[in-house]
Amino acid sequence: MKYNKIKNKFLNFFKKEGHKIFKSSSIINKNNKNNKLMFVNSGINQFINFFFKKKPKYLKIANIQKCIRITGKHNDFNVVGYDNLHHTMFEMLGSWSFGIYSQKKAIKLAWILITKIYKISKKKIYVTIFKGDKKKKLDFDYYSYNVWKKLINKDNILFFGYNNNFWKIDNFNLCGPSTEIHIDISNNNNNKKKIKQLISKNNNDIIELWNIVNIKYIIKNNIIYKNKKIYSNKYIDTGMGLERLCMIIQNKKSTYDTDIFYPIIKKIEKILLIKYGINKEIDIVIKIISDHIRSIFFIILDGIKPNNKKSGYIVRKLIRRCLIYSYKYLYIKKPFLYKLLSVLFKIFYKNYNYNIKKYKYNLYKLKKILKKEETKYFIFLFRNIKFVKKYIINKLINKKKKINKNLIYYFYDTYGIYYFLIKKICLKLNIKIEKFKKINKNKIEI
Ligand code: GLY
Repeated sequence: MKYNKIKNKFLNFFKKEGHKIFKSSSIINKNNKNNKLMFVNSGINQFINFFFKKKPKYLKIANIQKCIRITGKHNDFNVVGYDNLHHTMFEMLGSWSFGIYSQKKAIKLAWILITKIYKISKKKIYVTIFKGDKKKKLDFDYYSYNVWKKLINKDNILFFGYNNNFWKIDNFNLCGPSTEIHIDISNNNNNKKKIKQLISKNNNDIIELWNIVNIKYIIKNNIIYKNKKIYSNKYIDTGMGLERLCMIIQNKKSTYDTDIFYPIIKKIEKILLIKYGINKEIDIVIKIISDHIRSIFFIILDGIKPNNKKSGYIVRKLIRRCLIYSYKYLYIKKPFLYKLLSVLFKIFYKNYNYNIKKYKYNLYKLKKILKKEETKYFIFLFRNIKFVKKYIINKLINKKKKINKNLIYYFYDTYGIYYFLIKKICLKLNIKIEKFKKINKNKIEI
């Protein structure tokens, strides 16, 4: 089943079940001015006020929302590229009940969709349930348990505590017990025996797919309160990552092998004259580029240009991460990201209801913005490599000094020059680097 079909099946299913289908909001967080969120990080963002309205206009909602999770609590920035599951940008399939139905119905709907419509084998499905927390005076989620035990083998139900199965909606002070659906994508029969150790651990075999949360509490300064309006089991917030769903349905081991990323990766291969799936380091670069370019595309298209301020800085960071990885591992020295945009436009522009009349204009505009930013970075990078070289020649070589730890930090902080570049320069100039025990590699190395 292809990506678009998977999306349509989700929306049609919830529509038939009486849900109002909303369009995705902008990826820039515009709806909630008084919270700190820069980007929309889940489907609930545009409906958050519905929890507290006396009579929300719609009680059942579903949508597919473009989300970014690289700031705040959900920050996967440094993981992206190194695994097969995490992304800076993802598409969230979400459904909500605002006081009209409970977990019972939400779980049943999820079950029908994944087993009957997406035809995921029941044997591969595991679910986790909140076991309660005495210290925090939170009850066992017996409500979900009672529903699941009628649908699934008891051995496939596991119980976890506050850290795994209690969901907090970032920045909005809402929370509640969460029941999660996980899929075993391996054919390894031994997994069943040690499932407790594998599940919810970012394991490559057991994929966390969907969470169904009963929002019923308010959380402020880590203290959980009951709230008269929502303290019921009829406020439900669910979310499922489209990339993972495609991976499971399309029988792939990595989200990057799905047809969401396939055309992007093909284009990267063509532009950079490389092949995906042959060399581990090159794969990391390809995964970073194919992931980040989606975030870059949506952020700029939704109105934020790369610059030094807040969300502008995030898009700049994404662009620079693509370029420095390409430079380090492929020795790419020229702008190329902008050439990928035409593929992104083809896949996502119509899909996310952007103005079709402005297709060509927007493609032209985005290419221009991106190419300019890329060019700027390369100028900055090569100029600063020269500065560092000069510094080393003038201040160290003549005095027969070695490079020390402080200098490595200084070169990074002042000139944005990574440790791998310093090592390269030193090798060329035949200058030694002092041995040091502790260094914050995350800061100075990519
Ligand atoms: N409960 C929806 C989410 O994961 O954000």
